Amino acid sequence: MNTSIPKLPLILRPFILSLFLSLSVLLFISTQTPLHQRKTTSSSDQQPPPVSSTTTKATTTTTSSSSGGLRIRPGYSSYNAYIQHQLNKTLNPKLRQIWTTRDWERKVKVFSQFFDSLKQRHLLSNSSKALSVGARVGQEVEALRRVGVADSVGIDLVPYPPLVVKGDFHAQPFDNGTFDFEFSNVFDHALYPWKFVAEIQRTLRPRGVCVLHVALSRRADKYSANDLFSVGPLVELFKESELVEVRKVDGFGLDTEVVFRKKEK
Ligand SMILES: C[S@@+](CC[C@H](N)C(=O)[O-])C[C@H]1O[C@@H](n2cnc3c(N)ncnc32)[C@H](O)[C@@H]1O
Ligand SMILES: *[C@@H]1O[C@H](CO)[C@@H](O)[C@H](O)[C@H]1NC(C)=O
Ligand SMILES: *[C@@H]1O[C@H](CO)[C@@H](O)[C@H](O)[C@H]1NC(C)=O
Ligand SMILES: *[C@@H]1O[C@H](CO)[C@@H](O)[C@H](O)[C@H]1NC(C)=O
Repeated sequence: MNTSIPKLPLILRPFILSLFLSLSVLLFISTQTPLHQRKTTSSSDQQPPPVSSTTTKATTTTTSSSSGGLRIRPGYSSYNAYIQHQLNKTLNPKLRQIWTTRDWERKVKVFSQFFDSLKQRHLLSNSSKALSVGARVGQEVEALRRVGVADSVGIDLVPYPPLVVKGDFHAQPFDNGTFDFEFSNVFDHALYPWKFVAEIQRTLRPRGVCVLHVALSRRADKYSANDLFSVGPLVELFKESELVEVRKVDGFGLDTEVVFRKKEK
């Protein structure tokens, strides 16, 4: 008779716990909104990337608000401050040592599996001319070459010859229609996501394939310049392409593979 009385709280415990967790998550999210962020510096301080002038205007509108699942992190006083922040990690000699030794084989193997899978799905082939955007020391370029994609190269702010050449992904150092295939797992590092995407679409040939690895389920690191909450904003940005595929992956903290194919025109 009285056995059911002490049981009731036990049964309720998971519900109370989940209620508590939900409230914590809500509280956390509310502290992440732009309202609570430190005030964005005035748009006149914000330097455009070294190309178009239309970008400056777009920055002004997007940094100040969250735009349907893509939020630009505020707080960079200038384009150069953003680049310096990126360089601070990429140029770190201790880290570069680790990336090129201890991390090397493990990461090349995982990238090779991704590229093998893309070959099997006919999104990449040995004869593809391939680019990896934000390739750092080029583990993914090594992987592309290893699976047979001989004509592949990476770009990053810091070169790592011969796998990676110097280039800002906001202003790729390549002509229109250069590549059959582009890969990137650094979308979150773009201060101007629309420029990042426009440059990929510009340097892809018609029917060329772009594969992005992005984080949707967790927020990326302190070097990220934007946060993405769904695939929707990507589809909007890739206006000249069609969405081919979205699938879950386990790619160094990035959980979603999104594949686009540039339209014929
Ligand atoms: C998280 S790391 C990823 C490195 C590599 N893709 C990997 O998986 O090992 C991000 C890289 O993006 C590069 N990066 C950041 N901003 C860039 C920009 N504007 N243009 C080119 N590369 C940039 C950084 O230098 C850094 O090497
Ligand atoms: C980069 O690192 C240098 C030296 O460690 C520091 O003075 C500078 O403020 C850092 N810049 C950014 C943008 O983080
Ligand atoms: C592509 O290259 C790989 C690695 O060199 C090779 O094993 C394979 O036979 C090549 N051809 C095709 C169609 O994958
Ligand atoms: C390259 O592509 C851009 C964007 O699509 C376009 O504005 C530009 O005119 C093209 N340049 C050449 C040389 O075709």
